[in-house]
Amino acid sequence: MSNYHIKHLEEYWQVYRKSVRHPEHFWEEIAEEHFVWRKRWDKVLEWDFDTPIVKWFQGGQLNITENCLDRHLATRGNQTALLFEPNDPNSPAEHISYSELHQRVCKMANVLKSKGVQKGDRICIYLPMIPELAVAVLACARIGAVHSVVFAGFSSTALATRIQDCDCRMVICSDGSYRGEKILDLKSIVDQALEECPEVSTVLVVQRTLQDIAMVQDRDFYMADLLEKSSADCPIEIMEAEDPLFILYTSGSTGKPKGMLHTTAGYMVYTAYTFKNVFQYRDGDVYWCTADIGWITGHSYIVYGPLCNGATSVMFEGVPSYPDFGRFWEIVQKHKVSQFYTAPTAIRALAKENVDYVNSYDLSSLKVLGTVGEPINEEAWHWYNENVGKKNSPIADTWFQTETGGIMISPIPYSTPTIPTFATLPLPGVQLALMDHEREEIKGNQVHGKLCIKFPWPSMARTIYGDHDRYRETYFSAYDQMYFTGDGAMRDAVGYYRITGRVDDVIIVSGHNIGTAPVEDAINEHPAVAESAIVGYPHDVKGNALYAYITLKESGEDRNHDNLRKEINELIRSRIGPIAKMDKIQFTQGLPKTRSGKIMRRILRKIAHDESNQLGDISTLLNPEVVESIIKGAMI
Ligand code: PRX
Repeated sequence: MSNYHIKHLEEYWQVYRKSVRHPEHFWEEIAEEHFVWRKRWDKVLEWDFDTPIVKWFQGGQLNITENCLDRHLATRGNQTALLFEPNDPNSPAEHISYSELHQRVCKMANVLKSKGVQKGDRICIYLPMIPELAVAVLACARIGAVHSVVFAGFSSTALATRIQDCDCRMVICSDGSYRGEKILDLKSIVDQALEECPEVSTVLVVQRTLQDIAMVQDRDFYMADLLEKSSADCPIEIMEAEDPLFILYTSGSTGKPKGMLHTTAGYMVYTAYTFKNVFQYRDGDVYWCTADIGWITGHSYIVYGPLCNGATSVMFEGVPSYPDFGRFWEIVQKHKVSQFYTAPTAIRALAKENVDYVNSYDLSSLKVLGTVGEPINEEAWHWYNENVGKKNSPIADTWFQTETGGIMISPIPYSTPTIPTFATLPLPGVQLALMDHEREEIKGNQVHGKLCIKFPWPSMARTIYGDHDRYRETYFSAYDQMYFTGDGAMRDAVGYYRITGRVDDVIIVSGHNIGTAPVEDAINEHPAVAESAIVGYPHDVKGNALYAYITLKESGEDRNHDNLRKEINELIRSRIGPIAKMDKIQFTQGLPKTRSGKIMRRILRKIAHDESNQLGDISTLLNPEVVESIIKGAMI
């Protein structure tokens, strides 16, 4: 029996039971056998969920890039590590071998050093899906700098908030990016953001689109010029197991985004382990995750997990619809992709198109399919299974979060029988609990509850950067000695889990977390707006769409509402990014409120879901009369 690579359901149960009975021993064995350490740890785990404090492999020393790169050089130096597929289908793919990637990472690491970057410094990376993004991430890790990747679809305001929050002094960006037919200007977004971030003294610019950009003297440098002069010899920085590796921001239901801080050793062990098991990766396979490295899925399952296992990982710059809706399948055929991992929203969008787009390509290389980011509906699951997998490739419906670092619930392909819409079973080392309204754990099967995790796992975020109180408050205060995920779930008769969705004010739109508060803050900035509340409602491609109920200040009443809608969406785009734009905006005379003045989102959600006949008792509201007018307004 191998703890590291599970191949049968029986083996899963054996390994799972062992992982729960002796968690420390379980992870210690894996850490020992599959990774390179510069010094062995003294203590496997120290934890308490009150403080909360979690430390794995204390005393251990290592560098994650030695595990991702150096150790493969002797055995697979010439094997492709990253396979870059550009936006333009007529441009050749780039096969970057392990030795070339190693060299490129070392060179960029030396560039960072030459600009004064030291261990512990935070570096903001705002790059599109080009190889330099992976190289920059690894270059930071090599010298112990903490990367903070910001998805290159975020606005300048969102970028500035993230740069300020973790006090980055350097930004790595590109001139622009290609997305389908569009060429986007990224450098000007950075320039705008930096007007609010005077502490940033260095900007390194990767040239991708070669468009005209402004360069600020003594602050902005072309990466290529610096790389040219840079040595390919860069020894690793020896890191303590609990030294920070990266910060990644995720939206909360309130306040500013949360900078989830991940540390080195536990994250490495867990992402490598879960990559191997969930994707059943074997030597020679070509693995493709379509996520952007700007999200946790890309960090863990494009860069670190695959490279730690010596895998070939595809990076795709473009979009599924360019030059047509067959692009994903053309790439699968061209590179003989074995594992394909995408989001339900992409599947739903592609399922709307003619199935010939799929059937025109040879997908026989596929062995495992994956989905992540939101619940997958049954129809999309079947479409994926039948048309892409030809009922031959098991679907791993993987549940995890930015906070968990790695996949927590997923079938193990070819071992765990799958059921549509069920993420099925916890991975080894993951101890789940469902909680009831009385804050007690619900035992037994065929139950619903709030999803918690009752024992630490190696890749959990250790804190919210700069705000440990918020970390405790958000994740550890709802239930005693439990990490609360913010999701609801049900456990069926055989113990399989189905994630039912967020139970807080986070709305998942096309797989992206949108916190209601920051969007409402943006809307409220409009001078005509008095108050707003946003809710989600079902959308057949995006999963959820966004619905804003807005009351206007008196002076705004007679404005042209269509213009106002445009202005509000423009404001959202500039404050957060296009992903948070509203699908529906309804102007109302008031918002339903409790007697303590809290907006009753439950009522607004029902109206948006077209379920206004199920509002229940509204007589306790402060202003029940507004409900009727909102319902009427919604029907227009
Ligand atoms: O609600 C869950 C949903 O996405 C949330 C985490 O979002 P984020 O931190 O952006 O990470 C997304 C990629 C891991 C979760 O709290 N979610 C993620 N995967 C699934 C899911 N909901 C249902 N099924 C999934 N497989």
